Amino acid sequence: MNVAILLAAGKGERLGEKVPKQFLEVEGRMLFEYPLKALLDSNVIDAVVIVVSRDWMDRVVEKVKHEKILGIVEGGKTRSQSVRNALKFLENIKPSYVLVHDAARPFLRKKHIEGVLKKAQETGAATLALKNSDTLIRLDDSRIEYVPREGIYRVQTPQAFSYDLLKRAHSEEKEWADDTEPVHRLGVKISVVEGDLFCFKVTFKSDLELARLIAKEWERIA
Ligand code: CTP
Ligand code: MG
Repeated sequence: MNVAILLAAGKGERLGEKVPKQFLEVEGRMLFEYPLKALLDSNVIDAVVIVVSRDWMDRVVEKVKHEKILGIVEGGKTRSQSVRNALKFLENIKPSYVLVHDAARPFLRKKHIEGVLKKAQETGAATLALKNSDTLIRLDDSRIEYVPREGIYRVQTPQAFSYDLLKRAHSEEKEWADDTEPVHRLGVKISVVEGDLFCFKVTFKSDLELARLIAKEWERIA
């Protein structure tokens, strides 16, 4: 059984809207409903677990009804805690693979779900990542340092792992920015599946403007 974990328990503090970014309404749908639809429509995903904060639990339960939704789980204070809560919820179900996706990345494509899951099934751990094409600098006060950009990738989600491996990686209560890092720490190789710009994370104001534009055409380009 392959289970997707959709992380939607963040507060969206950097965006600074009244509502957490994943619940902003864009083209008649809340942002988290875009990736949720992709996961529910996917033939390779058997069930979906949505992680939300206690404040949003009732509204989400009310809004999303689908036979593939296995549970709506309360999130934690940090992203990693939210992941651990979902893994705990799955303890009795023991899926073979889990695919973790940020609800703040609305424009999830079928090919990315399939690509990352397939790679994880072959190797144990995989992530979507985007090859960097810009010159990179580190700005320290006004001092510029040029960062060599060879081999630089931007790590995105979805990320997929065998359930046992991700559980082991999160056996300590530590905080990570994503889920590949704790798996890598176990000495496991992370496979990279080439992503695209559409899988960006809504973080700042301009990301939201871009999301509003893409949402208008998403049915056509998804
Ligand atoms: N997330 C979560 N539980 C948390 C924190 C984050 O489920 N305690 C989720 C977010 O909802 C998001 C994803 O993890 O889909 C990536 O996190 P991020 O972009 O940092 O979102 P927020 O934490 O909501 O934003 P910010 O850091 O600006 O507050
Ligand atoms: Mg955050």
